[in-house]
Amino acid sequence: MGNNTSSTERVFACEVDDLEDGDSMSVRADGEPVAVYRIGDDFYATSDTCTHEQWSLGEEGDLDGFEITCTLHNARFDVRSGKALCFPATVDLVRYSTIVEGGKVYVAAVERAA
Ligand code: FES
Repeated sequence: MGNNTSSTERVFACEVDDLEDGDSMSVRADGEPVAVYRIGDDFYATSDTCTHEQWSLGEEGDLDGFEITCTLHNARFDVRSGKALCFPATVDLVRYSTIVEGGKVYVAAVERAA
């Protein structure tokens, strides 16, 4: 009881300096594997595991612009929305909002892409 998930809770993900432009990494945020992507000075976050099979997008994915390609079977996702863009993935990633503050990146408010 009392665990109302509608409130915004933010969880530390990584340091801003952990990622260079165009890089991604996998972190544990609140026990969940989360992929964090840096594009310019903007940070995006989705669930880390490809929705096709078990594969880490943050560690093994190939980030090109706003698209992350799963290097196992080449599914692509838009990191801004989590949307699956092509086969073999048909299920979207979970998208997390990101907050950058004091040189640290936080993820918040799990949103399921419709
Ligand atoms: S595991 Fe990612 S496309 Fe197959």
